[in-house]
Amino acid sequence: MNEVGAIAAMPLYTNLDRIARGLAALGIGPTDPIRPEQLFPMDQWHYHGTCAIRDTAKRLALGPADRVLDVGSGVGGPARYLAHTIDCQVTALELQPELHAIAVDLTRRCSLDRLVTHICGDALVYPLPDSSFDAWVSWLAVLHIPDRPRLFACLRRTLRPGGRCHIEDLCMRARFSPRDLGDVRSIVHGVTVTSIADYKADLESAGFVDVATTDLTPDWAPYAAERLTAWRDGHTAYAQAHGEGAYCAQELFYTVIARLYEGGSLGGVRLQARVP
Ligand SMILES: C[S@@+](CC[C@H](N)C(=O)[O-])C[C@H]1O[C@@H](n2cnc3c(N)ncnc32)[C@H](O)[C@@H]1O
Repeated sequence: MNEVGAIAAMPLYTNLDRIARGLAALGIGPTDPIRPEQLFPMDQWHYHGTCAIRDTAKRLALGPADRVLDVGSGVGGPARYLAHTIDCQVTALELQPELHAIAVDLTRRCSLDRLVTHICGDALVYPLPDSSFDAWVSWLAVLHIPDRPRLFACLRRTLRPGGRCHIEDLCMRARFSPRDLGDVRSIVHGVTVTSIADYKADLESAGFVDVATTDLTPDWAPYAAERLTAWRDGHTAYAQAHGEGAYCAQELFYTVIARLYEGGSLGGVRLQARVP
């Protein structure tokens, strides 16, 4: 299986018709216009939904003149939220063609295509122009990318002098047991999940300065446990709308993540930095 095939098999990235089904449940047909707000419960694939993106925009002091790169943009939720609320230009880079196609369609139907440009490509090799962004952001994507030093070197080049970055991602708090590592690799598709110190060192080696890190585990671990409980509570309704297979795929992912936090090996981290 190639890289795209391997990641596409991860439970989070199966049953991709869930957005179309979720929209249908709101009475929105496959070609109907959409208000961005109607998507927010479905298109934010990270912790704390749009609150996290709003917080990032504030931390980076983003404004309408900013050009932002979103690395691992999924179905485009964070990119659309930034464009919709800040009016800034966002380039959304996504590896998986199926997710990219959904993202393009949703953005067009939200009439945000004048602000959001979707690119399908691998952040490790996609030829982004030098010095073309004021900031790059990434939520829960770097963990999937095998060569983090190379990734950061590429992304550093895309920033103008003084440009900033903001990452939220998984990290390793204690050495993974063989069982944990198996789950991290096969269920989470976590190929680069390291200590916060190693993560920070990779940014510094790529030339980023003022690297600030925050351990988000005390916030994310209970969030993951509550997410699993809520998911199970909604079993019947979700399975009726989306099918039992779609319910189970997500339940497996949420269960593994909650178990890894509970065992103390998995954590969450925010990193912010700038280039000189
Ligand atoms: C957990 S999802 C998060 C999506 C989005 N950031 C969000 O928060 O809604 C991570 C995304 O990163 C993408 N990704 C993984 N490796 C990538 C790569 N090498 N280049 C670009 N995107 C990648 C995955 O395909 C997936 O859509």
